[in-house]
Amino acid sequence: MAAYDEWSAFYDGLIRRRIPVIELSFELSLSLLGDLAGKSVCDLGCGQGELARRMARLGARVTAVDTSERMLDLARSYPSPPHLRYLRDDARKPSLLPPGAFDAVVANLMLMDTDEFEAVFRTAYAILAPGGLMAWTVTHPCFESPYSEPLDDGQGRLSHRRVSRYAPQWWQSRRPNTLRAALGAWHRPLSVYVNAFLRAGFRLVRMEEPVVEREVALEPDQLSHYELPPLLGVSGVKPG
Ligand SMILES: C[S@@+](CC[C@H](N)C(=O)[O-])C[C@H]1O[C@@H](n2cnc3c(N)ncnc32)[C@H](O)[C@@H]1O
Repeated sequence: MAAYDEWSAFYDGLIRRRIPVIELSFELSLSLLGDLAGKSVCDLGCGQGELARRMARLGARVTAVDTSERMLDLARSYPSPPHLRYLRDDARKPSLLPPGAFDAVVANLMLMDTDEFEAVFRTAYAILAPGGLMAWTVTHPCFESPYSEPLDDGQGRLSHRRVSRYAPQWWQSRRPNTLRAALGAWHRPLSVYVNAFLRAGFRLVRMEEPVVEREVALEPDQLSHYELPPLLGVSGVKPG
């Protein structure tokens, strides 16, 4: 049973409630991917498929892949735009994704969920056509980590953060009733991610660290997202 099977309904609820950081991740991935019309795109770790459906509605032909059968069941329960298919496969060592088949690959908020993130980069490289683009997003390695905690700004708002260490490790959040408390996550410094991406053969194109717009309402312990980017997004090409 995949780790997310038990948490698929919970995760689906977050997306239905349009949680700001997840919304931001979709916008970030779409911005890194650029024009998708007519392109063949693979979504690695697609979850309940929201980003895959958005990409398909923008005219992409989308193959959306996840290890969690329950996530895929949820994905299939949504009305599907044309040219979208869901597959159960492992992004670390896929058996159903042909080499050189895609114009773009995206891994939105999934690399923190895998022990072998380098294998995901190698998969992306293998299944892209020459000149193809990979975009990936993770929770920001500097500010969203086991060593980062919300800090009172002196006026009762948790709008600052204290970061006390910076090292790779698997961790579990202490915030009750959260996905990261239940499933944990891999934390890796920014250089670990980017160097692995380059080692896989990609040429770096863009890095983005967006903050949440002031008009968007945030939970009290997430107010720092207005100032400190909660996400890192990166894109790179497979040289043609
Ligand atoms: C945090 S969710 C993100 C889902 C989706 N990308 C989104 O942004 O809404 C992470 C997803 O990655 C999937 N996942 C984790 N490891 C995977 C792997 N090795 N291969 C395929 N999917 C994987 C999980 O099952 C889960 O659905």
